[in-house]
Amino acid sequence: MHFEKNDLSRKLMRAFPALRSLKVYIFCLMLVIGIVPSIIMRLGILENYEERAVSLRASEVTTQYKIIANHLLNYNYLQDTTSEVINAELEQMSNLYDGRVLIINGNFRIVKDTYAMSEGKTMISEEVIKCFKGESTTRHDRNNGYIEMTIPIVEQVEAGIQEDARVLGVILASVSTDSIVTTMSILNRKALILSVVMGIVILGIVLFFSHILIKPFNRVTQAISEVKDGYTDKAVSVPDYVETEHIVDAFNQLLGRMRVINDSRQEFVANVSHELKTPMTSIKVLADSLNQQPDVPVELYREFMQDITEEIERENNIINDLLALVKMDKTEAELSVSAVDINNLLETTMKRLRPIARKRDVEVVFESMRPVTAEVDEVKMSQIFTNLVENAIKYNKEHGWVKVVLDADHQFFTVDISDSGIGIKEEDCDHIFERFYRVDKSHSREIGGTGLGLAITRSAVLLHRGSIKVSSVEGEGTCFTVKIPLSYIKSGGNS
Ligand SMILES: Nc1ncnc2c1ncn2[C@@H]1O[C@H](COP(=O)(O)OP(=O)(O)OP(=O)(O)O)[C@@H](O)[C@H]1O
Ligand SMILES: [Mg+2]
Repeated sequence: MHFEKNDLSRKLMRAFPALRSLKVYIFCLMLVIGIVPSIIMRLGILENYEERAVSLRASEVTTQYKIIANHLLNYNYLQDTTSEVINAELEQMSNLYDGRVLIINGNFRIVKDTYAMSEGKTMISEEVIKCFKGESTTRHDRNNGYIEMTIPIVEQVEAGIQEDARVLGVILASVSTDSIVTTMSILNRKALILSVVMGIVILGIVLFFSHILIKPFNRVTQAISEVKDGYTDKAVSVPDYVETEHIVDAFNQLLGRMRVINDSRQEFVANVSHELKTPMTSIKVLADSLNQQPDVPVELYREFMQDITEEIERENNIINDLLALVKMDKTEAELSVSAVDINNLLETTMKRLRPIARKRDVEVVFESMRPVTAEVDEVKMSQIFTNLVENAIKYNKEHGWVKVVLDADHQFFTVDISDSGIGIKEEDCDHIFERFYRVDKSHSREIGGTGLGLAITRSAVLLHRGSIKVSSVEGEGTCFTVKIPLSYIKSGGNS
């Protein structure tokens, strides 16, 4: 059986022959399973770290500036920026966080810039406007490496029983994220080194396991090779996996079948030699005894020559039967199929065999249920009927009968050949279709059989995709049933 692969996988396998190796599959699979999670984990952890570090830094700085915002109010810094305490505080903050601080008053004017570049200028940005409404903002600029925050400078005003908040100004602070980026790159490098080390370890483990996992399959190949090379013919055993056990079981079954075929071939050759030798031995004995007597009477000479002729005839029959069997073993190409009138064929066959039946006083009857025409090989079909009817006559009793019944349905025709003969034991029924098998060798010899008739018959029936069955009661009679398709079934290629 051959399974078609789709085009893409066939092309891939042709381009990369290694893809056809189970070892490579296991290797790749384990590598992916081992390495991919570590890459995903590395990326996930680093990304998460950056987010957390930025938000921590922003909230820390915002808290600090909220305190400074209160100091600004206390020192009235928005009106007068000369306070050294505040200036020092702002300077310290911008140094500490490596950033810049702008203090913007209610008129959007920058009253203080720690870089002293924009003092007196106006600053109106989205964040600043939002902040004047009382909302702090935070923005992380990853590309330029800083975090920008706005913190409102809020004055609490008493309004009756309730307190109200008024935004008098805004602190716009930016802090550098350089230290976070540096930590990130150190972490990244360490994680990369760890990944590489892990990758190497995983690669080693994968190589080791793919080698171990594939080992039983190599053992199967080795065990089969030993049988193939003829070092052993014992059954192979590799029970490591269920899969290897299945392969090995199938192989052992094949081995068993081949042994049976080989045994039957040897038996066949032995049988053929024996069968061909027997008439030869008889001829030699007859010829020798004629040669050894100086004055052989003509009558004896004639009698011996008659015996020799019979033995030659017997030898000839065996050779013809063997040739017929060999031919049948080949292919069905030998079949010449045509529409054959089966009633007519059976009648002709029986007419030919009636003289033998008459000699043994056996009555031969033909019964046809309907006219049957079928697509068969006429010569082979005639051989089937002849062999079966001949057997029914040969293995019959004195004054016995043979009955041939022809019937058909829309698919098959069946021919029953029953007799009132000696019958066949049940255990022999399983063997009578084997070549050279004869139930009672001495009796069959006397009758003149070689044991090839039913083997030929069975082969011819199978060539027509039909079936042959036997049922018999010892001492009472036998019935052979042949079933053949009416239309010839051409066999498709066996896959
Ligand atoms: N109708 C039958 N009744 C009883 N025994 C039979 C019958 N047909 C076959 N047998 C038994 O089966 C054996 C095999 O039959 P088969 O036709 O193959 O060989 P054969 O008749 O001995 O020789 P031949 O090759 O000449 O036909 C016979 O020897 C016989 O013992
Ligand atoms: Mg026979």
